[in-house]
Amino acid sequence: MNSSPITSSQTGIHEQLSALVARHVATPFRKPVTDYNRSAFDRSIVAWRAAGAPPLILDTGCGVGLSSYHLAVQFPDHFVIGIDQSEDRLARNTHWNGPEPLNLCFVRADLVDYWRLLLEAGIFPARQYLLYPNPWPKIGHVARRWQGHAVFPTIVALGGYIECRSNWQIYIEEFAAALNQVAQDKLDRAAASEAYATDAPITPFERKYLASGHSLWRCRVQVR
Ligand SMILES: C[S@@+](CC[C@H](N)C(=O)[O-])C[C@H]1O[C@@H](n2cnc3c(N)ncnc32)[C@H](O)[C@@H]1O
Repeated sequence: MNSSPITSSQTGIHEQLSALVARHVATPFRKPVTDYNRSAFDRSIVAWRAAGAPPLILDTGCGVGLSSYHLAVQFPDHFVIGIDQSEDRLARNTHWNGPEPLNLCFVRADLVDYWRLLLEAGIFPARQYLLYPNPWPKIGHVARRWQGHAVFPTIVALGGYIECRSNWQIYIEEFAAALNQVAQDKLDRAAASEAYATDAPITPFERKYLASGHSLWRCRVQVR
């Protein structure tokens, strides 16, 4: 099924993003964590520890989880936790045809709580993937994009290798700008938006966008 390119009246980085990010860095994010998310988090950490607590990969907003399988195979000495809030999507994780890797688990949780619970527990992932997050292209929805969300400083504080991909270049430019603002001298190099080309899509959205002829963009950094 063809997908339309993102349309937005925004033509560059949102003019309020920098102020929003500065506010989020300066103000502790105190929204209470729900019991549901805490139990889901605990279960996933039990699964990770049962596997010997190897270096951790977060596949955040994993949808049906196809990318989690790919990452688990690509990094056999790591453990992948695929997190999504949609029970329906997680239940449809039937897109993987190869042998089932054992170094992964899935958890249904809201990332806004999950990321904060990880930080509270002092668990720092080796790698974080944010693959095709909901773009929220309306100008008024900037605070719903991860870089404009109050949880963004937590993502950065968790650190490690961080990669975000999107078919909307402005999303990736904003993500990079917010990383440069929050992490400053903790990055291996300045975060930037780069074109991403592949013949081997690892998520259903990536596959759909490629099939529809969209350009793909990504930002990847190592946070010290
Ligand atoms: C556009 S889809 C991309 C799914 C997958 N990464 C892919 O590329 O096929 C975005 C996903 O993020 C999930 N998501 C959005 N907000 C979330 C949140 N606060 N907590 C957990 N998952 C969330 C949605 O349920 C959805 O599956």
